[in-house]
Amino acid sequence: MPDRHPALFAHARRVLAENPGPRLLSFGCSTGEEPLTLLRYLPEAQIDAVEINPRSIAIARKRANEAGCSTITFHQSGLPPRDTSYDAVFCLSVLRHGELDAAMPALCTQILPFRRFDETLQLFDQILKTGGHLYVWGSNFRFSDSSIAPRYQPIMLSDAPPHPGAIYGSDDRLIDSRGNTVFVFRKERSAASA
Ligand SMILES: C[S@@+](CC[C@H](N)C(=O)[O-])C[C@H]1O[C@@H](n2cnc3c(N)ncnc32)[C@H](O)[C@@H]1O
Repeated sequence: MPDRHPALFAHARRVLAENPGPRLLSFGCSTGEEPLTLLRYLPEAQIDAVEINPRSIAIARKRANEAGCSTITFHQSGLPPRDTSYDAVFCLSVLRHGELDAAMPALCTQILPFRRFDETLQLFDQILKTGGHLYVWGSNFRFSDSSIAPRYQPIMLSDAPPHPGAIYGSDDRLIDSRGNTVFVFRKERSAASA
């Protein structure tokens, strides 16, 4: 579905308004709606779009070609690229599992452990510029529990709808079912300067 997150994308447009060529990462881009929507908000952006599922990324590539779009580079991968630094990283509805939301088991370890969430955030942290923004929506974990959180400033958006999914702590135990309410995080400093 196009434009699933207008509040988040509008925030990115505001904070990147003065940037003549922002670099964006759309991690878990599925069939391409997310990076194509981002380009509507930020037409000068260069976007890397990563997707693990080969069928989805084939559709995404076709869709971008049909739209005549040459500023999105698609990568079939389960990991973010390591050779670029980004002004914004979008990880929307990715670090989650439907079974956790549906069955809400007491422990998430066998399905999706907190460790996987934290490791992925650490990879984002390595490629996000200081002053850049990380957008994490729809995850089954809280950014505030992650090992990178102390170097980030949370930004509350009043118009961003919560993801009503199960939330698990850093010990893999179910915390509650009310979901996250903060989805934007500004990188204040790098790990090296921490
Ligand atoms: C629910 S879709 C969300 C798509 C898009 N981000 C959005 O919000 O509209 C999640 C996508 O993330 C992909 N995905 C899950 N884990 C991934 C990983 N480790 N690396 C890249 N893509 C991943 C899935 O294959 C799926 O296409």
